Amino acid sequence: MIKFATVGAGWIVDSFLKGAKENAPDFVHSAVYSFSDAEGQAFGAKHGITRIYNDLDALGESDIDAVYIANPNAFHYPTAKTLLEHGKNVICEKTSVITSAQLKKLYEIADEKGVIFMEAMKGLYLPEIHQLTEAFSKLGEIHMAKFDFCRYSSKMPALKAGEFPNIFNPAMAAGGLMDMGIYLVYPALYWFGVPNKIQADVSMMSTGADACGTVLFNCAPREENGAFKNIQVTISYGKTSTSKHDNLIMGDLGVLHIDTMECFDNSYIEYVDGTREVITKRDTSFSNMGGEALQFYKFITDKEGTKERYEQSKKLTTEVIATMEKIREQAGIVFPEHVYNL
Ligand SMILES: NC(=O)c1ccc[n+]([C@@H]2O[C@H](COP(=O)([O-])OP(=O)(O)OC[C@H]3O[C@@H](n4cnc5c(N)ncnc54)[C@H](O)[C@@H]3O)[C@@H](O)[C@H]2O)c1
Repeated sequence: MIKFATVGAGWIVDSFLKGAKENAPDFVHSAVYSFSDAEGQAFGAKHGITRIYNDLDALGESDIDAVYIANPNAFHYPTAKTLLEHGKNVICEKTSVITSAQLKKLYEIADEKGVIFMEAMKGLYLPEIHQLTEAFSKLGEIHMAKFDFCRYSSKMPALKAGEFPNIFNPAMAAGGLMDMGIYLVYPALYWFGVPNKIQADVSMMSTGADACGTVLFNCAPREENGAFKNIQVTISYGKTSTSKHDNLIMGDLGVLHIDTMECFDNSYIEYVDGTREVITKRDTSFSNMGGEALQFYKFITDKEGTKERYEQSKKLTTEVIATMEKIREQAGIVFPEHVYNL
C-alpha cells in the first residue's frame, strides 16, 4: 500500500482523489496538508481524513509515502522541493515549475532520494492519446496542426467584482499560458518534437497576467523525404472566453478532428473524399485523472519495470518547461522575481 497526502483543497483535488480511488486501490489517501488549518480540517472532514498537517516539514517527517500537490503554481517548487528532500514521492499539478533550473533541481533531489517527481498532465496517461497516435498513419503526410483551448474562467465574475483571484495573479505564476496553454504545448511536443522556431504573442490583463495567446511552432517533418519540409503547429488558449473549435491534425489524406485537448476524446478522421471514421469516444465511466494516479503509483511501486516510461516522462516535461520559458520570453509574460528562485 502507498499512503499519500494531498496539498490544496480545490475541486481538482476531489477529482484526483476520485481517479486514484477508482484506478489504484492500493494508493490510499491518508493525510491532508493545507497552509490554513481551517481549510485542512474542512477538507479532511469532507474526505474522512483525520491526519491534518499545516507544517510541511511535519508532513515530510511523517510515514506518508507520497504527495499530490495542487496549490497555486508559484508554490509548487518550494513545496515539492521540501517534500522531495524528506524522501517523499511527489506528483505535482501543472504547471509544475516556472524554470528549467527548478525542474532540473527537483529531478536531481528525487534521483538522489530514490523517489519520483512527476508533473500531473492527465491526458498523457489516458488510452486516447495512444489511439490518436496510431491513427496518424491514416492521415498521409502531416503538415499542419491547430490546437485551441479557451474557456471562460469561473473566476471571471470575482475578477470583475474587484477581487484578485489567484488564477489571474502573476505573483502566483498564473495566467492563460500556465493554466490552459500548457495543455496544448504538451501534445504539440509529444507528437511533433521540440520546435525549431517559436513565435508567440498574448493579450495581457490589467492584473499583469496573460488572458489569452497564440503561439506558432515550426517543427521538423516526421517523414524526412516527404512532400512537406516542416509542420506548423498553432496553439491558441485563453481564460476570458469559451471557444468551441475542433482541434485539427492535418494530413494530405485526411484531417483528424479532436474535441478537447484535455483528454483527447470525441475524435474522428475526415478523409479527402468526405467519409468519416471515429477514433476516440468520450468515456464518462472513467475518471480522467485515474490514468495519471495509476501511473504515479506504478512509478513508485515498480521502479525497474517503469524506468523507461519514467525517463520518457522526465524528458518530455523537461522539453515542455523549456518551451514554456521561451514562449513567456517572446510574449513578454513576466512574474515577480521570487517565483523564479531556486
Ligand atoms: N489538471 C487539471 O485539470 C487542473 C484543474 C484545475 C487546477 N489545476 C491546477 O491545480 C493547482 C491549484 O489550482 P486551484 O484553482 O485549485 O488553486 P486555488 O487558488 O483554488 O488554490 C488551491 C489551494 O492552494 C492553497 N492556497 C491558495 N492560496 C494560497 C496562498 N496564498 N498561500 C498558500 N497556499 C494557498 C489552498 O490550500 C487552496 O485550497 C494549479 O496548479 C492549477 O494549475 C489543474
